[in-house]
Amino acid sequence: MCGIVGYVGPGSSLEVLMGGLKRLEYRGYDSAGVAVLDNGGHLGTRKKAGKLGMLSEELAETPIADGHTGIGHTRWATHGGPTDGNAHPHLGDDGKLALIHNGIIENFAELKRELTDAGAEFSSETDTEVAALLVGRLYRETGDLTIALRRAVARLEGAFTLLVVHQDQPGVVVGARRNSPLVVGLGDGENFLGSDVAAFVDHTRRAMEIGQDQIVTIRPGSVEVTDFAGNPVAAREFEIAWDASAAEKGGWPTFMKKEISEEPEAVGKTLIGRIVDGAVHLPELESFDGLLTDIDRIVVLACGTAAYASLVGKYAIESWARIPVDVELSHEFHYRDPVIGERTLVVSVSQSGETMDTLLAVQYAKKHGARTLSICNTQGATIPRESDAVLYTHAGPEVAVASTKAFVAQITALYLLGLHLATIRGTLDAPAVSALVEELQNLPAKLDQVVETSGERIADFARWMGDVQSVLFLGRHAGYPIALEGALKLKELAYIHAEGFAAGELKHGPIALIEPGQLVIVIVPSPRDPNSLHPKVISNIQEIRARGARVIAVAEIGDVEVLPFADEVIRIPLAGPLFEPLLAVVPLHVFAMELATAKGLDVDQPRNLAKSVTVE
Ligand code: F6R
Repeated sequence: MCGIVGYVGPGSSLEVLMGGLKRLEYRGYDSAGVAVLDNGGHLGTRKKAGKLGMLSEELAETPIADGHTGIGHTRWATHGGPTDGNAHPHLGDDGKLALIHNGIIENFAELKRELTDAGAEFSSETDTEVAALLVGRLYRETGDLTIALRRAVARLEGAFTLLVVHQDQPGVVVGARRNSPLVVGLGDGENFLGSDVAAFVDHTRRAMEIGQDQIVTIRPGSVEVTDFAGNPVAAREFEIAWDASAAEKGGWPTFMKKEISEEPEAVGKTLIGRIVDGAVHLPELESFDGLLTDIDRIVVLACGTAAYASLVGKYAIESWARIPVDVELSHEFHYRDPVIGERTLVVSVSQSGETMDTLLAVQYAKKHGARTLSICNTQGATIPRESDAVLYTHAGPEVAVASTKAFVAQITALYLLGLHLATIRGTLDAPAVSALVEELQNLPAKLDQVVETSGERIADFARWMGDVQSVLFLGRHAGYPIALEGALKLKELAYIHAEGFAAGELKHGPIALIEPGQLVIVIVPSPRDPNSLHPKVISNIQEIRARGARVIAVAEIGDVEVLPFADEVIRIPLAGPLFEPLLAVVPLHVFAMELATAKGLDVDQPRNLAKSVTVE
């Protein structure tokens, strides 16, 4: 939510900032702005409502002088609508200081009153302008931007990353971070700040984490990090695991299409180095070893798509490791006095590693004695930093706002965790683990097959379904969370009403929604397993067909029993019951994308959404 970039060095500020904002636009895209110190020591700013292209046009029509120090922002509105005036940067110290912000300043009303009483004039409806005016006032008192920002953050409540520049301090950008992301890019004679590494990965792959409640001052040749009290702190450096080309479209029409095609690779890369001689090898969990045999419960915290991946993981971990697993929506968890303790392992699942709801839930769990494991796709992010251990998914940068490849990578990581637990707790013997590991290793090739075969067929359906008003998704067992994910993706991308149901729940109410013509997509389990729920799902299909539903079935190759009951069948390769969901989700991702494309919608940046939800 909100993308932030800062630069000091010999290069063109405008070029670095606009390039960074382009890579960060997925974080928020309702307005954008830049502030640059030109070589004459003057601060120039431009900001514009709308996507980044509007700011580029504005800069082309009314240019500002370029320089070597600057900050840039792409916004997802919280306080105040997406207007030119509310876009960042906001100014302080009579227009000599510019500030950008990601997060929410909760005590802004009180500070606004105080500043207004002291004669300050506001020109926006944002909470951010309070911070700009406050830092400006403190700069006038101290003459030092770092000290001014440090004093200002002591007055702020809420979540924020702030970046600030002042025209009397060329070659300096100062940042502060509380509960919102901020990383440093370390260059040669130049340095960068960004809300994630995408902001600067085309300039450097060396990065540095900024911790909670820290202030960072960058100059072309130095990076100084202190805590909010001004004590120096040692920050951890890391190498960014992917290069700039991974975050480019690379010839694909959209990031969404590219990322769906990368689902096989996301699973494959998440497995790399973690399977040795048919057994799961997770050195990341070594610090937990004693605990993992001792835990009596797992709580998984996540939101949205990550929560649906977690639900799939629950089915596997419970079945393999015989430990109860509760999947909790992070934002519900810590506000309801949950029961957790020292024998609870809390696993958070987050692509961005920055989701505020999940971060707060993890912090709550730690405070109440739980050990915490983060499953995350983003190096240097806050949630892994604040957890006892981290198991990274290696899906690569996910740029399209709606999550696809991270979903299958998250399930893969949860499966590795489940097999690791089953091994150390002795609930599965080595041959059983080895057989399941083999299934996991076969997944990338099978996913490739689904990606290759499902595309055109689904694009055809999507064309004739362009006017559909509502779609229901049904699944059972681990197919149920896949139904939820299919429905979420369709809402997000195609703005179509969609609901996912456990097929067994139909007769308890949702069947009342079925009327002639209602489109229902059903995930059909394999009939080969002797305990298969296949006959039950076929009965469910018959019930809805009898009431006029049009049915698209996602079923395995060779399942002929489904044919008389479905209007269309999308085929997936054969796999074990717990592996089918990973295959079945791909056609649903493709379906949502194709339907949105047929409606002429922007599949990479759907309306009202932002990639990292860093506010509650
Ligand atoms: C849906 C989607 C969201 C995210 C959710 C959690 O396509 O992307 O539902 O899954 O906001 O985000 P992370 O995984 O970054 O915590």
